[in-house]
Amino acid sequence: MMEFARTALRYVPDALLPGTRPKPVRGQHGHVGEPVSRIDGALKVGGTARFAAEVKLDGMLYAALVHSTIAKGRIASIETAAAEQAPGVALVMTHRNAPRMKAPKGMMDGGGVAGSSLPVMQDATVHWNGEAVALVLAETQEQADYAAALVRVAYDPAPALTDFSVARGKAKRPDSVLMEPAAVTIGDAEKALTKAPHRVDRRYTTPRHNHNAIELHAATVAWDGDTLILHDATQMLNGTAGTMAGVFGIQPEQVRVLSPFVGGGFGGKGLWTHQILAAAAARLAGRPVRIMLSREGVYRLVGGRTLTEQRVAIGADAEGRFTALIHEGVAAMTAHNNCPEQFTFPARHLYAAGSFRLEQTIAEMDMLANTFMRAPGESVGTFALECAIDELAETMAVDPIELRRRNEPECDPTSGNAFSSRHLTKAFDDGAARFGWDRRDPVPGRRREGEWRIGMGVATATYPYLRMPGNAARIRIDAHGHATVSTAGHEMGMGTATVQAQHAADRLGLPLDSVTFEYGDSALPAGAMAGGSQQTVATLAAVTAAAEALIKELLRIAGNDSPLAGLRPADIVAVDGGLAQAGDPTRHERYASILSRAGRDAVEAEAKAPLPLEMLKYSMHSTGAQFAEVAVSDVTGEVRVRRLLGSFDCGRILNPKAAASQFRGGIIMGLGLALTEETLFDARTGRVMNPSLAEYHVPVHMDVPEIDVIWTDLPDPHAPLGARGIGEIGITGVGAAIANAVYNATGTRVRDLPITLDKLL
Ligand code: MOS
Repeated sequence: MMEFARTALRYVPDALLPGTRPKPVRGQHGHVGEPVSRIDGALKVGGTARFAAEVKLDGMLYAALVHSTIAKGRIASIETAAAEQAPGVALVMTHRNAPRMKAPKGMMDGGGVAGSSLPVMQDATVHWNGEAVALVLAETQEQADYAAALVRVAYDPAPALTDFSVARGKAKRPDSVLMEPAAVTIGDAEKALTKAPHRVDRRYTTPRHNHNAIELHAATVAWDGDTLILHDATQMLNGTAGTMAGVFGIQPEQVRVLSPFVGGGFGGKGLWTHQILAAAAARLAGRPVRIMLSREGVYRLVGGRTLTEQRVAIGADAEGRFTALIHEGVAAMTAHNNCPEQFTFPARHLYAAGSFRLEQTIAEMDMLANTFMRAPGESVGTFALECAIDELAETMAVDPIELRRRNEPECDPTSGNAFSSRHLTKAFDDGAARFGWDRRDPVPGRRREGEWRIGMGVATATYPYLRMPGNAARIRIDAHGHATVSTAGHEMGMGTATVQAQHAADRLGLPLDSVTFEYGDSALPAGAMAGGSQQTVATLAAVTAAAEALIKELLRIAGNDSPLAGLRPADIVAVDGGLAQAGDPTRHERYASILSRAGRDAVEAEAKAPLPLEMLKYSMHSTGAQFAEVAVSDVTGEVRVRRLLGSFDCGRILNPKAAASQFRGGIIMGLGLALTEETLFDARTGRVMNPSLAEYHVPVHMDVPEIDVIWTDLPDPHAPLGARGIGEIGITGVGAAIANAVYNATGTRVRDLPITLDKLL
């Protein structure tokens, strides 16, 4: 029926790629830790990497959507005749003719991944301003777009709660926040605050943000009988397959999701309504369908980061030791999604304090479901917390790094658990030395260069170490000694395939070009989702388990004629393209030899990663220090970020080239959060008013200064290979570091993101 986009990526040595520097020749071990270039880089640069909206299927139709213009109510009438008669149109789908489908399961109720658990196009009800109310299929995209413009919808609007200033008055404390308690109370923090000789008590606000991955959300779908093939741009293959199966009443094995390349995810490339609608329309039309959202469509159908109002109050004794740490506030959410924006989480783990009150509430609104967006919670939570610490340091005339040092905890301050590994103080020291922190003038507004006032700021970065259980991998070694490692993982630009090939090569004692990493296909052993900065390490653990199972199997088939005869798996190392006795390289047999003697074409083993039990015992977090230098114009109030430096403690770094890119990307997103990004939401209508890259400002090349990134590279003894995740920590702390630098430059505190020039004039 079609050629599947099964991805099988093999390492191409840099020397073979035009224009890249030759790499030094290395032994078969030691790939981990090397700055190996992307193994998928050549495919992307050469244009042969095929993304979800580039899959061509015979007889395929193109989809366009009609979006609701009210936030809540009912469709009173919908006229589709003109659209149906337009050139090239094959089908107009509305709630009247859409197939019956079950509502998708939400993320927290049964493993679904849907951005929301609302039913999709099943009746006349409208749930948010922008919801899809009709879908048009036509022979070309242009015909579909034109016909969609001919659909006429009339509504019976119902009163909608679209004004946060009203909604926040009805805010409620949820039962839990991402499976943690919504409130953590230790001692009487309010009382301790009033008694403290030094204190700050401030409110901070952060706006909505939209996802703006360069690749628009897209899916190409086809039914083969009752089997659904979904070429998707997703960071959640298995969850998508399972949830789609539930929606259409089929078995998870009857849904195959392929997603070999994703052009940016950041938490937004999950299951939203467009994949469900495309699959429903394909079923109705009896033909394959491609749907690619417009940029506006992404704003209407794919949620982003929600807004928060936060209070941070800190009391400190005469020496600056915290006696009270209060972080509380409210985030907007809907009744049908699962992302409460856990902004109080950083304060649960970062600082010692005599008492704590950390509590967050939720204000439900009638809007598109908000969702995870790079370091949800931590990115905006560190803005408030780390600005407040800077404000306290200012009132005490203490250096802000020194104030943090005085409150460095010995163990997790709210759980009491030991840290698995924590070198935040070193990250600050290293960062301060490299950034030239000693050149900061502690008195705001004194450093000038013509019209520009110059300031420096610092903040802590933090992101938890997460690992989701149940991930499996398979390894197959063929008669030539080539290994194929398979798991349903994701590559959305962060270097997954490269790093996993590096690890597998070391693990199996093979050169990098003898390993193929196969991923991006839900038909492979169930893998980690690319979320929570945990895919890399979770996959390492699964591959390690599979390698152990494979070694057992190899020993078994090697038999008594092998130099390995009589050895137990625990005595074995993988080296030089085969197995050897640890400490005795003369007892060695190559994989090809083992297989040939056994008369086998291949040997394979599949295993699941063990449960990540270390997480129950230890408090596991990556941390870091963010430094910023800004210039603020006296004339226009414009902020220019001149230099940024991130100094991270994330355990062992597996590939410094890929890691530096992840850190920098996160920091750039933090720059956007600090200065430019804001979804403008009309409180009267609940409509997003700036659904385009022209009006929603992400940092562009001219906004981004030199970004220096360094790391401790100290392995975490309790994480697989000593590595914790690095995908999200880069954005955390950046908003505060820049806000603190703006204060240092100007003497003006902006507690309301983004820091636009009107707030500085
Ligand atoms: Mo991330 S927000 O878990 O993709």
